[in-house]
Amino acid sequence: MTQMIINGKQVDAVNKATLDVWSPTDGTVFTTIPRGQEADVDLAVTAARQALNGAWGKLTAMDRGRLLTRLSESILEHKEELAQLESKDTGKPLSTSRVDITVLARYFEFYGGAADKVHGETIPFQTDYAVQVIREPLGVTAHIIPWNYPAQMFGRSVAPALAMGNASVVKPAEDACLSIVRVAELALEVGFPPGALNVVTGLGEEAGASLSKHHDINFVTFTGSNEVGVLIQQAAALNAVKCVLELGGKSAHIVFNDANFKLAIPAIVKGIVHNTGQTCTAGSRLLVQEDIYSDFVSELALEFSKVRAGTPEMDLTCGPVVNKAQFDRVNRYIKKGLADGLKVVAEGSIADGVPKGGYFVKPTLFSSPNHDSDLLTQEIFGPVLVALPFKDEADAIRLSNATDYGLLGAVWTENGGRQQRVARGMKCGQVYINGFGAGGGVELPFGGVKKSGHGREKGFVALEEMSTTKTIVQYYGE
Ligand code: NAI
Ligand code: MG
Repeated sequence: MTQMIINGKQVDAVNKATLDVWSPTDGTVFTTIPRGQEADVDLAVTAARQALNGAWGKLTAMDRGRLLTRLSESILEHKEELAQLESKDTGKPLSTSRVDITVLARYFEFYGGAADKVHGETIPFQTDYAVQVIREPLGVTAHIIPWNYPAQMFGRSVAPALAMGNASVVKPAEDACLSIVRVAELALEVGFPPGALNVVTGLGEEAGASLSKHHDINFVTFTGSNEVGVLIQQAAALNAVKCVLELGGKSAHIVFNDANFKLAIPAIVKGIVHNTGQTCTAGSRLLVQEDIYSDFVSELALEFSKVRAGTPEMDLTCGPVVNKAQFDRVNRYIKKGLADGLKVVAEGSIADGVPKGGYFVKPTLFSSPNHDSDLLTQEIFGPVLVALPFKDEADAIRLSNATDYGLLGAVWTENGGRQQRVARGMKCGQVYINGFGAGGGVELPFGGVKKSGHGREKGFVALEEMSTTKTIVQYYGE
């Protein structure tokens, strides 16, 4: 049985309650986790506050950086163990989990190196005044993490917070938290002081809600559904603290008639089936210029039909989806697509020999004559791609922006002017030109516009989000 990490110790929930954890691969219960609630969250937040006022708060930026770097090394030393945990929890193919753990280590490497490179500034002011602007931590940071990339999301959220000297309380998803708990244990082993990093496991509506509204947190970051993101922002508002929200997307590829098919096709397939489509940045809409539409979609269909879903050990293109709710959701959308009159142009397959109770769904490529179906505006979070034709540049930009989301976009064309015009016309936080997805992209500022959320993660901008300035004004005249 897994335990939580609070104040440097492995603990059960105060009231000893537990939750079952189901394997997505065969639908059976394979372990239990503590069902942390308000009392556990309170202990974790108190421990974090004490760490800030104690050993953790006294460390220099250099020493914090060294701790993060050591944790990065320890993660790599435990890569296989962590990848196995990640695959058990999420059903990911093992090689995908290995990449995810490498990216997790990269977050701690990047932010470990950055910790002592965030400098303040001095500002010329009135006669006989010295003005310094220094960076300080926000305090206790709360991190609510989803189940689709537990390890990566933990690194993305927590590494910059710790680099800036905050003390963190993490609430991983109830569906997949094992790798996160293990990394918090490794953090203690490499020397993080007690309370600097706490992990409270449990349900969203219990531990998650208690954490996001705790009166002594100074910041909350959340990745997940739009519906819960709104609750997090409301909780943050009641405490008047800042929040960063990443709430998914409905990202579009725009393929012009001069596109390099060989480059575009594998990237478009991977962009929707990787992680079984359970990726906030999944390229789930495919806009193709009308004069190449039928050629391009036929070639894409050939590639798409090679996609196979299997168990982590089979290590195929993708795995099952994470739980029964996701399984029902994806199948509901596939049925809705058929009811809306969309045409199935290709299907992937589910490998022979997968366990009966596993949450395997059939990767599906639809073609639609227009942008009218829910499948083109709502986040499905499964391996379902819908292609539709567009006329010209203006039409493509208009369609790409025809959803409430705005996380990512991609444009495929050899025309340089068009690349730049379209990239600037797409309303989203990242645009790729002749490529898609950054394979981690730890260095690259990331986040959404519109209903995809606000605030930025990754890159140096995360260090600004996770800290605040203090302006010190000194009169030095006589
Ligand atoms: P969710 O938004 O409910 O869960 C994400 C995290 O929030 C989990 O840690 C959960 O425990 C926590 N949470 C849930 N309710 C909470 C509350 N009231 N207060 C505080 N924390 C809470 O996502 P869910 O229900 O698992 O998935 C539904 C849909 O959300 C997916 O189909 C997908 O469309 C979207 N989603 C998007 C993600 C992304 O990467 N942008 C990640 C996960 C889900
Ligand atoms: Mg939910």
